[in-house]
Amino acid sequence: MKILVTGGAGFIGSVTTKKLLDKGHEVVVYDSLIKGHRESVDSRAEFVQGCLSDKSLLDKTFKKFGIEAVIHFAGFIEAGESMKEPSKFFKNNVIYGLNLLDVMAKNNVKKIIFSSSAAVYASKDSPLEEEDIKKPANFYGETKLIFEKLLSWYDDIYQIKFVALRYFNAAGACGELVEKHNPETHLIPLVIFTALGKRESIKIFGTDYSTPDGTGIRDYVDVKDLAEAHILALENLRETSNAYNVGTGKGISVKEVVEAVKKISGKDFNVIEAEKREGDPTMLVANSEKIKKELGWEAKVNFEEGLRETFEYFKNS
Ligand SMILES: NC(=O)c1ccc[n+]([C@@H]2O[C@H](COP(=O)([O-])OP(=O)(O)OC[C@H]3O[C@@H](n4cnc5c(N)ncnc54)[C@H](O)[C@@H]3O)[C@@H](O)[C@H]2O)c1
Repeated sequence: MKILVTGGAGFIGSVTTKKLLDKGHEVVVYDSLIKGHRESVDSRAEFVQGCLSDKSLLDKTFKKFGIEAVIHFAGFIEAGESMKEPSKFFKNNVIYGLNLLDVMAKNNVKKIIFSSSAAVYASKDSPLEEEDIKKPANFYGETKLIFEKLLSWYDDIYQIKFVALRYFNAAGACGELVEKHNPETHLIPLVIFTALGKRESIKIFGTDYSTPDGTGIRDYVDVKDLAEAHILALENLRETSNAYNVGTGKGISVKEVVEAVKKISGKDFNVIEAEKREGDPTMLVANSEKIKKELGWEAKVNFEEGLRETFEYFKNS
């Protein structure tokens, strides 16, 4: 299949691009490089540098390459920033995303896999199921929920079929392809940088959550497993649109992440306990039974294995 991967120069998009190419698909990466890295794009892929705001370039790209399906990763991802600059997130994640859907409709492209997020749900102290209450704790999550609704309308109006993959926290590495967000705000790389002496300390935001050790709990799913979920979702997408959780079902607290990095690195480092941040939910853990039952997907890489791979990459880079 000829697949347009938006945001394919970013963390999850670059790994998915590699895996799609390995499976014999043809890939065109469309990325503005506002956050991504040109060198992360597999040399077997076509690359178009462009923003989703540029409808005419999108249209030309669909026509030039004969695009048959889309995997849509492009967007802003930083939940904390979305609480300070909501309109920036609305524009990029919703309005520019709508351009993509319009160009798909115009070019008769009927399949899209969308990077949604666990951030669409209200926090819950047991694993989340797809039908659980949608009540984002931050504006980033709201943009994902709105885009899911837009996808349903474009299905009704233009018969564009979609799968929204609600991923939990992406982690791990695939060779040279690791998390390199700019600025980096994700916990795992930040803790690793602290262990490697590239930062003086690591802050834990909130130690009085209603969790066993008082810190927030997340479900870390390896990026290689996430990439597999996209490929399965796309290859099985026929007449019915759908939404799936993609996680491991195992909750890991912030303190546990810090301890795991101390163990792997053999280093002790300065940990500062700070106030909770606005928009951070207490616990987000996936029940991924639906994707397991319907698509045969399940997480294969365990957390420590992925963490070790990420640590080794940063240690040697
Ligand atoms: N990383 C996670 O833990 C996580 C969890 C849940 C959902 N997601 C979603 O997965 C997707 C990918 O996340 P990631 O961690 O790989 O992020 P990333 O920042 O590494 O990748 C996003 C890519 O999109 C590109 N981009 C952004 N806006 C663009 C635009 N308007 N036009 C063209 N390109 C644009 C960036 O340059 C970047 O390469 C995002 O949509 C994110 O919301 C990520």
